[in-house]
Amino acid sequence: MTDQPVFDPAKDAAALAAVKLVQPGMKLGLGTGSTANVFVHRLAERAAVEGLALRCAATSKATAELAASLGLRVEPLDELGWLDLTIDGADEVDPDLNLIKGGGGAHLREKIVACASDRMVVIADQSKVVEQLGAFHLPVEVVPFGWQVTQALIRKGLDGLELSQRPILRRLRDDAPFLTDEGNLILDLSLEAIPDPQALALMLSRIPGVVEHGLFLGICEMAIIGRDDGSSVELVAEVTQ
Ligand code: 5RP
Repeated sequence: MTDQPVFDPAKDAAALAAVKLVQPGMKLGLGTGSTANVFVHRLAERAAVEGLALRCAATSKATAELAASLGLRVEPLDELGWLDLTIDGADEVDPDLNLIKGGGGAHLREKIVACASDRMVVIADQSKVVEQLGAFHLPVEVVPFGWQVTQALIRKGLDGLELSQRPILRRLRDDAPFLTDEGNLILDLSLEAIPDPQALALMLSRIPGVVEHGLFLGICEMAIIGRDDGSSVELVAEVTQ
């Protein structure tokens, strides 16, 4: 579990730049996924040298285990109450810093943690930067009860928005349904393009069986994009400038 991830210069560059945002005594949200894992490793390295007195809330069981195994203090979000900063990865980042998240199926906890933070900063490699969201499938977490009815309602809603692709139940390699940390299912929506993310988010959030979708709109304040040459660049939302 504590093995170093395979070295990726772009992810490492983004993670290292994000570690510099951390101040002693901060309450931190730790994201989920391969880029967030690199950040957790780099953060733990710095904390081992400097102390820092950090208190961390994790966005998944996997991240909680990793962070604790590296010596970081992980506590329930409710113990921390409000966080100074959350650092997380993303599957897509658009020019307004709207995101698709949930490739790892953790977007429910990720959104709760990000929205309980003064600042959410995304770390990603260049492949995640897009002009328009939607090439990556949009994950939607749904409760198991009546999930096929929820799927039908999502399909109807997509038809209404002229986004008619079929939501697919996420499965593991052995074909068993993927279960989130909350014991829910994921429907992946292959939409190709999302011209109006707000309308889609509203439609999805009106369906009772939908717990949370992977659209993060107006939540991320800054994105740090790592490059293969080991450099990084900060993107700030155009709409909030
Ligand atoms: C998990 C997420 C991840 O942040 C997202 O999938 C990016 O992961 P990676 O850094 O491995 O590409 O949203 O639910």
